[in-house]
Order: sequence, then C-alpha cells, then structure tokens
Amino acid sequence: MRFYDELTSLKEQIGFDERFVPLRKYDNIVLSGMGGSAIAGMLFSDLFSSVPVTVVNGYDVPDFINENSLFIAISHSGNTEETLSALENATSRGAQIFIITTGGKMASMQGEKIIVPKGLQPRSSIGYLLMPLLRTFGLVDEDIQANTVEAIDRVLGMTDEIRPLAESIVENEKIPVVYGIPPSQTVAYRWKTQFNENSKIMAHSSTLPEMNHNEIAALPYSFLKDRFEFLVAGIPVGKYLSRVRISEKIAGVKFHLMPEISGEPVPSMFASIMYGDMLSYFVAEARKVDPREVSAIESLKAELAKTD
Ligand code: F6R
Repeated sequence: MRFYDELTSLKEQIGFDERFVPLRKYDNIVLSGMGGSAIAGMLFSDLFSSVPVTVVNGYDVPDFINENSLFIAISHSGNTEETLSALENATSRGAQIFIITTGGKMASMQGEKIIVPKGLQPRSSIGYLLMPLLRTFGLVDEDIQANTVEAIDRVLGMTDEIRPLAESIVENEKIPVVYGIPPSQTVAYRWKTQFNENSKIMAHSSTLPEMNHNEIAALPYSFLKDRFEFLVAGIPVGKYLSRVRISEKIAGVKFHLMPEISGEPVPSMFASIMYGDMLSYFVAEARKVDPREVSAIESLKAELAKTD
C-alpha cells in the first residue's frame, strides 16, 4: 500500500467498531504508550475529563495506581519495552487492565484486549488505536461518526491548498512551529511527530493559550524567526482567534490557519489530524524522502534490546 493510502485510510478506520466493557468501577484512568501509540491516549485525554486521566510515556506508572484504576496499554507492535514495563507495573498494583495492540508480547499478557488490524505503520493506525477509546467512554455515536468521516473527506479534497504549503516549507527550508487550539492540543504534537517521522524534519509544537505565557516573549527576538513556518492545528474561534491575531501582531509573524471544517470536537480533531498527516506527506514528497521508513527508530530499539 502507498504510504499516502495508509494515511488516508484514517477515513475507513473511523468505522472500527470495538469497545471495552469495564468490569468494575474505577476512580481514574491511566493510559500508557510511546510514539504513535501514545498519541491515541493523549488525544483521548484532550476529550475526556469525567474522571482524572493521566498519560504515561515511559517505563513507570504513577504511585496512585491501585485496584481502583483503569490502566490502558496501547502499543501497535505489542513489543515496546517501556509500555510492557508500565503494563507489568500496573498489573502488579491490581489495576483493571485494557490492552490495544496488533499482537506481539502484549497479546499474551493479562487483561481485556482489542486486537487492531496489522500492516500499517503505528502512526498510520491512529484511528484504530483511538476509536476503541472514544467508543468505550461514549464520545462517539452514529452522528458523530458520520460527521467525522465527512470532515476527513473535506480535508482529503484540500490537496490544492495543502501541497503548495508543503512545497513552500521545503523550498524555503522552514521549520514548522505548530500551535494547538483546544481540543486539538495533542493534534499539534501529532503534526510535529509526523513532520519528524514522515518528512524527516525537525519541528516544534506548543499550545494556545499556553504559548501566550512563554514563547510569545521569545518570538519577536528569536534567532530563526524568518525560518519558522507558524501553523495552527485546530480551528480558532472567539478568544482563541483573538489570541492568534494578537500573537501575530506582537511577534510580527503570520500564522497559517486551517479552514473551518467542523465545530464538533471529534470531527474537528480528526480533520486536523488528517490535515497535518497530508502536509507531512507532501513535505516528504517534495524532499524526495521515504515517508514510511523509520529505520532510526527501529535500529535504536534493536540496539537497546542487545543491552538487556
Ligand atoms: C512508528 C511510530 C513509532 C511507534 C513507537 C512505539 O510508526 O509511529 O513512534 O509508535 O516506536 O511503538 P509501538 O506503537 O509499536 O508501541
């Protein structure tokens, strides 16, 4: 499958109809994962706050985890050592365990499992990894699902806008700086990581309003100000739009805004993901780099395994 088709299969992934059934009540949710898998947990935590939600990206779990916690391990391969370690720790603390994976070591570990289709890169499987969370916690119904598919479709029709932006990033050797607007805070980080893994360029991400309390002080004086491509993930309205405009004025720069696609959180989040995925793909294409290969990540994992 072409890598572009992998990314745009997001539209079909929205139909992935699997959910967990919690066996008992819980006071908090802890999600664990690394890289492309972690982003599913982070996106979920931007949308759900009925109980405290914590996302961990590492070997350890927070001290508060106990039998009243719901622990969700997300690893596409099922073999990522940090996530396996966190899962073992949470299991030993008696937490209720859910696992989202394609297989690997996790398939035989204790806990309720959702097995997602194999074959795509972890980062291209974001719909498969995230939809079970949204369904389990009641964040999508049939209407939201249909609106999400429609929103993704609209972005898929925007190549005439997205490709020239990608080409100008490459031509002018720009460094993307992405700001996320709620509920797309994590989407900004997703754009950054897609620039890293697909386009093989460094990028930076932060969020609004937070950047108004730190980065804005640096921007007017920054060394590389002219080399940054300022992008906004998500659709700023009301106060957020005012913050964007005032930030532009103070920093003396222009932010690239996405067109308004949906006012609903879930469709808007997925539309912003699709927009960033396409942008990162077109940057890779313009640079003539292979967007699929992540040999650096794979060799790092292989070398680290030898040190055990
Ligand atoms: C590769 C990718 C990586 C992996 C990460 C964790 O496409 O996006 O960031 O997601 O190395 O591996 P998994 O997802 O298998 O736990």
